[in-house]
Amino acid sequence: MPPSSDPTSSPAATTPSLYLETYGCQMNVADSELITGVMQTRGYRSISDPALADVILLNTCAIREHAEDKVANRVRQLISVRRSDRPVRIGLAGCMAQHHRDRLLDAIPGLDFIVGPDGYRRLPDLLEADQPTAAVQLDRSETYHDIVPVRGEGLRAWLTIMRGCDRFCTFCVVPFVRGRERSLPADVLMNELRHIAEQGYKEVILLGQTVNAYRHDGVDFGELLRRTCEVEGIERVRYTSPHPADFTDSTIEAMTECTKLAPYIHLPLQSGSDRILSDMQRGHTVAEFRALVKRLRSAIPGLALSTDIIVGYPGETQEDFEATSSLMEEVGFDHAFLFKYSPREGTRSFKTPEILSEQEKGRRLERLIAEQLARTLRIHQTLLGSVVEVLVEGSAKRQPQWLAGKDLQYRTVCFEPAGASPGDVVTVLVESVTSHTLSGRQITNA
Ligand code: 5AD
Ligand code: SF4
Repeated sequence: MPPSSDPTSSPAATTPSLYLETYGCQMNVADSELITGVMQTRGYRSISDPALADVILLNTCAIREHAEDKVANRVRQLISVRRSDRPVRIGLAGCMAQHHRDRLLDAIPGLDFIVGPDGYRRLPDLLEADQPTAAVQLDRSETYHDIVPVRGEGLRAWLTIMRGCDRFCTFCVVPFVRGRERSLPADVLMNELRHIAEQGYKEVILLGQTVNAYRHDGVDFGELLRRTCEVEGIERVRYTSPHPADFTDSTIEAMTECTKLAPYIHLPLQSGSDRILSDMQRGHTVAEFRALVKRLRSAIPGLALSTDIIVGYPGETQEDFEATSSLMEEVGFDHAFLFKYSPREGTRSFKTPEILSEQEKGRRLERLIAEQLARTLRIHQTLLGSVVEVLVEGSAKRQPQWLAGKDLQYRTVCFEPAGASPGDVVTVLVESVTSHTLSGRQITNA
């Protein structure tokens, strides 16, 4: 049954409407833009009020149990307030839909459809079904290369260059829910990049689960970075998330030579213990990670590094944990995303007994958080009195008469403006810092 139009909205709004919420990583943000693209070609318009929507869709994350619990509660709540005066379809998209494909429709009464990361083309058809329906077939050839994403406002555009993951780290559900690795053709990506520039975006973030494993028809990641930097109008290029074992000379040379490539890399470490890294099957040792950081730092002046760390992986001893803490200090990460291990059904570590209590995992997490905050503050303090280059995004949250944006290292900078407006690149003198923000005043329009 096709969705009806919204009787309560303006006469112009006679087309069916989609309300979409996005959870999880930047890949999901980009996937939501694809979903919006698919739905717009079938006549749906996006709206921001679920109470007025014909279709309500949550694009979900399965990386940790907590992420899934949050979505399950939210969708139950949306189902409980569903209007009864007309058909409203409610569905789950993405990783959690794929992960629990066999039980979600039974477990959540009132849920109309689920669609996995390779099933978005089928979305409009699912909405025609008159009973709960699933599109959860993984398809190793699906790249959505012909779908034009509908991007949000702002200066920053996300572009998915590869999908899936072949690494199968023991803790991670991604290869099971997003399927095998596949890269998009370089010419498709270049067309999309030119389109992004024409739309006025100034910064692009290339995305992939192991983004630096990109390879298509002889074009490797380093070459793609170089080509991306040639697109006129795009001023800054970033990417996430690379895998430490996939860094090549070609990528590092591109980072050195292309001035548009921002000196910031998110480099997931997971653990600083060789024993745990090997158990996780991460594909590198601590010594190799150190050597990589050394190569990157000597090739890229002013490089900032962030990382992902899991505490409490099954078998993590106090000694393993201390090794993580001291490697984080030794590397001097500018920022870290820190997680408690969450067993994920279907992964290789799922059945391995956890030796730590939730409380102990929590203690370890809290310690790393405190250490990282202190480290970030220390790094920020070294920037006092220096000049940073900021791409201006809009008003500062706390001081609306000030402006804010990101510097090259992706740090948030708030500043007293002197003629700047959003979209400009300006230089700012750093006058005060916290562990979250740099503040100061505008010196010049760069
Ligand atoms: N438990 C906790 N954290 C996880 N991550 C991936 N799987 C799990 C898990 N089962 C973290 C990793 C990864 C980031 C995106 O999420 O640190 O790099
Ligand atoms: Fe998950 Fe490992 Fe693939 Fe990253 S590289 S998505 S952690 S399996």
